[in-house]
Amino acid sequence: MHSYRLRQDVSVLSDHLEVPGLGFLAVNAFVIHAAQPVVIDTGLGLPDRDFLASLAPVIDPPDVRWIWLTHPDRDHTGGLFALLDAAPQARVVTTFAGAGIMSAERPLPMDRIYLLNPGQSLDAGDRRLTGFRPPLFDNPATVGILDTSTGVCLSSDCFGAPLPTAALATAEDAAEVSPDELRAAQLLWATIDSPWVHGVDPAKYAASFTPLRDFAPSAILSTHLPPVTSDSTALFTTLLDAPQSAPFTGPDQAALEAMLHQFQPA
Ligand SMILES: [Fe+2]
Ligand SMILES: [Fe+2]
Repeated sequence: MHSYRLRQDVSVLSDHLEVPGLGFLAVNAFVIHAAQPVVIDTGLGLPDRDFLASLAPVIDPPDVRWIWLTHPDRDHTGGLFALLDAAPQARVVTTFAGAGIMSAERPLPMDRIYLLNPGQSLDAGDRRLTGFRPPLFDNPATVGILDTSTGVCLSSDCFGAPLPTAALATAEDAAEVSPDELRAAQLLWATIDSPWVHGVDPAKYAASFTPLRDFAPSAILSTHLPPVTSDSTALFTTLLDAPQSAPFTGPDQAALEAMLHQFQPA
């Protein structure tokens, strides 16, 4: 995991995961250096990852005031409990569903939770961060974030894309990916992460993008894509086509056995 300042008030903690047959998926967490600092998601939970150690050069963990969990999938919760221990003032921003899902494995302490629904805002001292439901998501607890003071949008899984190399997955700007490659990869990710997209009413689905388009983000920060800091029009155009794209079918047992067979010594 490496980190960098995307802008004066936003740091990116950039990691990736290799997905066999699909490529390399960015796994990002973020810090908004607000008056009350906010960590957004906490990375992978793999044994060789140490989120706290990766976070320390970016912000002193005890200074963290909010840990905004965009949703409690395991690529977002890796450092959650270590950070809660290291940041005694911090509370976890999540939803009722998010807290409920966490309670099935390791409950969040009730006095460390701050429940926030889409449409509600968090006062981070010098700015208000407003929750919104991204158009595409894989978990009912998902809440993205709009920083209304800067125009930065944190979109959780939405807009993600598996990319051909680890270097691209951890690039500091999505503009490093060719537009055609990015479009194909985003449509693939949409069908994997949100397979329900093939059953939506097209008009209602298109309308679900309107609030975010009207917000006109200055940057789109997805957990699963390098930052988008330039014109995001193409991203919207791409995802509007997701309902018509080919549904994803993963490898089955025969494919797995064929793959394993290739690894057997001759
Ligand atoms: Fe997810
Ligand atoms: Fe994710």
